[in-house]
Amino acid sequence: MKILLLGSGGREHTFAWKIAQSPLLTKLFIAPGNAGTLQHGENVNMQPTNFEEIRQFVKANDIGLVLVGPEDPLVMGIHDFFLAHADIKHIPVIGPCQLGAMLEGSKDFAKAFMIKNKIPTAAYQTFTKETIHQAFLFIDKLNAPYVLKADGLAAGKGVVILNDAAEAKAELNRMLLESKFGLASSKVVIEEFLKGIELSVFVATDGISYKILPEAKDYKRIGEGDTGPNTGGMGTVSGVPFADAEFMKKVEDGIIKPTIAGLKHENISYKGFIFIGLMNVGGNPYVIEYNVRMGDPETESVLPRLKNDFVEMLQAIGNNTLNNISIEIDSRVTATVMLVSEGYPGAYQKGKTITGLSQVQGSMVFHAGTKLATDGTTITSGGRVLGVTSFGEDLQQALEMSYSNIKRIEFEGKQFRKDIGRDVINYK
Ligand code: AMP
Ligand code: GLY
Repeated sequence: MKILLLGSGGREHTFAWKIAQSPLLTKLFIAPGNAGTLQHGENVNMQPTNFEEIRQFVKANDIGLVLVGPEDPLVMGIHDFFLAHADIKHIPVIGPCQLGAMLEGSKDFAKAFMIKNKIPTAAYQTFTKETIHQAFLFIDKLNAPYVLKADGLAAGKGVVILNDAAEAKAELNRMLLESKFGLASSKVVIEEFLKGIELSVFVATDGISYKILPEAKDYKRIGEGDTGPNTGGMGTVSGVPFADAEFMKKVEDGIIKPTIAGLKHENISYKGFIFIGLMNVGGNPYVIEYNVRMGDPETESVLPRLKNDFVEMLQAIGNNTLNNISIEIDSRVTATVMLVSEGYPGAYQKGKTITGLSQVQGSMVFHAGTKLATDGTTITSGGRVLGVTSFGEDLQQALEMSYSNIKRIEFEGKQFRKDIGRDVINYK
């Protein structure tokens, strides 16, 4: 089977690496891909949101399945676009329809879905500029800190947490009245602050049955000790010690089952991955957010632990036979440390030569923001550049391996967090 994978980050390199291991694959195309995906298929210069161009490409190249990496094309309705065109309707798209993608595309929609389906989440209310005065009264009723969320997609920057009620009101003014996040903040969800430790759970579903993939924890802040601005993710570990059988049973019964049942009940067609961001509050899981795709860099830690043929699994999602697959997970754990450009998540330079990739031993290197230069060297082309993933019998071992290989890779301005995984190793 020929597969088209949409996206260009570390998640997509990991997908490409895993897909290429399947004997069911005849050819993999990645649009637009990066220097890493080139190791496993052919990069195509095409944007994941250019649906008409994708339509022509899948027809011309006899594509049998499309896997969507990022959220944008899903929220813009790529799955619905395929279903609406007779010439490509038969090609399975792995990723939900537009309505399902609203679980990520609208925080208000996601919260209403959780409440309807009795899924534990922080208490909340949603406001618009017309109801800003009620929003101020709501803030006065809550205790600090205050969590404000732009309703729509805001490139991971739409959540603002403030310690002071006056600051929260000023921020609300910026979001609702001054369109701080454009249309995305024309509605704002204000919610109760949950105190605990976060983790993410990943579910694959064909809309009928579901399979739980390994859980992971990511490190969003740029600075050690979770300080400084948010990034796309500075590292992840998979195999989160506190996510033991008892905790995961609470997640499955209290969150995953009602989520799948809720989708069915509301006739939301959902084939793809659900990424559930959770807060462990005193041993009980609460949903912070849904994403309608795999995480990045979580995929770099999660997918290597999946022993199954990934193409077989994607096909099963496409033809509603996921129930027939039994998931096999490597008992070893993984750790991924991201190497990022100097200045990230602010302004940074691109085009720095990367050396030492061939010296890496005992780790996998997944490319995020890289490009092959015309002279054949690999250069940086993004804020997050590479993810170095290692297996270990425990997290300590996996982390040691990643950190030792990081020393072998060089590019000007290379930055990374030295404390990935430390909090979960020490968590009591
Ligand atoms: P999100 O963009 O939805 O992933 O949110 C960004 C981050 O804000 C999350 O990863 C949490 O660390 C934090 N956060 C979001 N909602 C809450 C909440 N209700 N209580 C505490 N922290 C939260
Ligand atoms: N690592 C967080 C995300 O993929 O949204």
